[in-house]
Amino acid sequence: MTPARVETPLVAEIEALVDGVPGWSPIDELFTLSTLVYATAHLPGDVVEVGSWFGRSAIALGAAVRDTHGLVHCIDPFPTRDDWRQNADGSYSFEVEIEGQRHAGYQEQTVWGAPFEAHLAPVYASQPSVLDGFLANIRSRGLESVVRPHRGTAGTFAAQAGPDFRCRLIFLDGDHGGAAVDDDLRRLLPYLVDGGWICFDDAFSVYEGVDRAIHAHIIDNPAFDVARQMTRKCFAARKRERVS
Ligand SMILES: C[S@@+](CC[C@H](N)C(=O)[O-])C[C@H]1O[C@@H](n2cnc3c(N)ncnc32)[C@H](O)[C@@H]1O
Repeated sequence: MTPARVETPLVAEIEALVDGVPGWSPIDELFTLSTLVYATAHLPGDVVEVGSWFGRSAIALGAAVRDTHGLVHCIDPFPTRDDWRQNADGSYSFEVEIEGQRHAGYQEQTVWGAPFEAHLAPVYASQPSVLDGFLANIRSRGLESVVRPHRGTAGTFAAQAGPDFRCRLIFLDGDHGGAAVDDDLRRLLPYLVDGGWICFDDAFSVYEGVDRAIHAHIIDNPAFDVARQMTRKCFAARKRERVS
């Protein structure tokens, strides 16, 4: 690592890296994710992100993974503008076809009309392919050797991960509906190594499904021993280390 990089505060480096990348993850949340990558560097396994959009959080995770070890697997159906439809109540959902199978997103927890029109529609107007935008952002930061997109869901990822796959950190920022978060957790938690961490975006804010899943799978689960709301948006918990 160059001396200049060592001397640059991590927050300043993250700010510079994600500058201009559309997304919702604030810098304090990205800082938390980055420090958890460093804090789990002694553990085996990769990092898994569910919900990547244009790569804002993937960039913060990827820069820390490049300093440590492993890969960041970014799971997202990467819907194009044409995959979205407006519901009767004005909110939005999407449906994408992935390898011949239809996947419906944001059904239970739809995307409200005003944020869709204010934040998603203008981004789609300048970049109709989220996947192309994601890849360009990862490439321009020199992170393509450590950040791997998976166009799909936690289910399709798990189906191809293989029996030896392990991860040391999971970040969930995909579909915030209760059934969707539940499914992400059922598919991915078996891969989390002892001592590994899981983070949830938008915890204890307005998404009942996220909060319910955190209670059921983490807070009420003796397999986890440290659990805290880290920033306004970000909840994190550590898997208990088994004492043999
Ligand atoms: C809030 S954005 C993610 C923002 C990103 N983490 C960032 O830092 O900018 C949510 C993303 O989740 C994706 N998504 C929706 N349903 C999903 C699912 N079932 N699995 C994975 N990703 C999903 C959407 O396509 C969208 O790109």
